[in-house]
Amino acid sequence: MDTKITVIPGDGIGQEVTAEAIRVLDTIQDEYGHRFEYEYGLLGGCAIDETGTALPQETLDLCRRSNAILFGAAGGPEWEDVPSAERPERAVGTIRKELDLFVNLRPIRGRKALAPVMPVKDEIVGEGLDFIVIRELAGGLYYGEPRGIEPHADGERGCNTLAYTTREIDRVVRAGFELARKRSQRLTSVAKENMLESSKLWREVATKVSQDYPDVELNHILVDACAYHIIRNPSQFDVMVTGNIFGDILTDEAAVLVGSLGMCPSASYGNAKQGFYEPIHGTAPDITGQGIANPIGEILSAALLLRHSFDLDTEAAAIENAVDRAIDKGFRTVDIQQPGLKTVGTIEMTDAIIAELRSDS
Ligand code: IPM
Ligand code: MG
Repeated sequence: MDTKITVIPGDGIGQEVTAEAIRVLDTIQDEYGHRFEYEYGLLGGCAIDETGTALPQETLDLCRRSNAILFGAAGGPEWEDVPSAERPERAVGTIRKELDLFVNLRPIRGRKALAPVMPVKDEIVGEGLDFIVIRELAGGLYYGEPRGIEPHADGERGCNTLAYTTREIDRVVRAGFELARKRSQRLTSVAKENMLESSKLWREVATKVSQDYPDVELNHILVDACAYHIIRNPSQFDVMVTGNIFGDILTDEAAVLVGSLGMCPSASYGNAKQGFYEPIHGTAPDITGQGIANPIGEILSAALLLRHSFDLDTEAAAIENAVDRAIDKGFRTVDIQQPGLKTVGTIEMTDAIIAELRSDS
């Protein structure tokens, strides 16, 4: 199988973890007899430095032609003074919007082995947790108009708009029902309909769409209550679907149950047969360049890429199992370090995962 992958490392630890994910993909290539062809693109602060813009047209064109995009992260203190509309993070938003990636799957897997590093009681994680947050990614508060900062009698006024249309809600909620159908036939829709009209519509549309899925049980929960229950009683959730900003916040919170933000992958889709894969963490300027970042979020994103863009289920599962076994053998990056276990750097963690992959195939 001959397959093209667009690789966009971005900035900060995005570059470090992406390099490691590529080493893992190279191992899959050797062990399973595939040929992956990588095409690299620039996005973020590095793109500003090299081309003057955070999202060069060339990168956008490259992504439009690609079925599988592996992204790292973008942003950093070097570009903090760049005008808002040109910031590296906005380029991430723009590419998601341009590719119309309205479904963002964020699997939350709490492994029992990591319970000791989690600031929650062991019994909350139990034998392991496994739920998926579907975050709407191409609409909502990040993109609504009007937006901006304007002069105001009080000084200035900053404004953003949280708006969703029936079509935007319908399509992402449907993705939620489809996924729930493949899992436990339960879907939780998260909104804030007691205060927000966009959420009132969200709930109405979700309820209407549920008529097409009589086999799936739909529940509604307010986002603030959801934030509470994610930590208090997470095992009640299986598939959740929510808007862009709520999903952004809830998944950072849910990452507590995984052990670290550095371990969480994500996969995004639109209508096209195209997938965009990125860890949910950012560029971590505080640890950039030290070789200590956790590569697992990006490595698991590469596994999702193999599964969803290339139907390489066996290979994806092999990566996921290799990660589990490296963790079970006691390899830990600093973010998940544990007394008595080996604290290793980005490269050594990947080496441990690769060793497991080689012994498995
Ligand atoms: C995420 C990140 C991004 C977001 C930033 C970097 C633009 O926090 O993917 O969760 O807010 O969506
Ligand atoms: Mg986020």
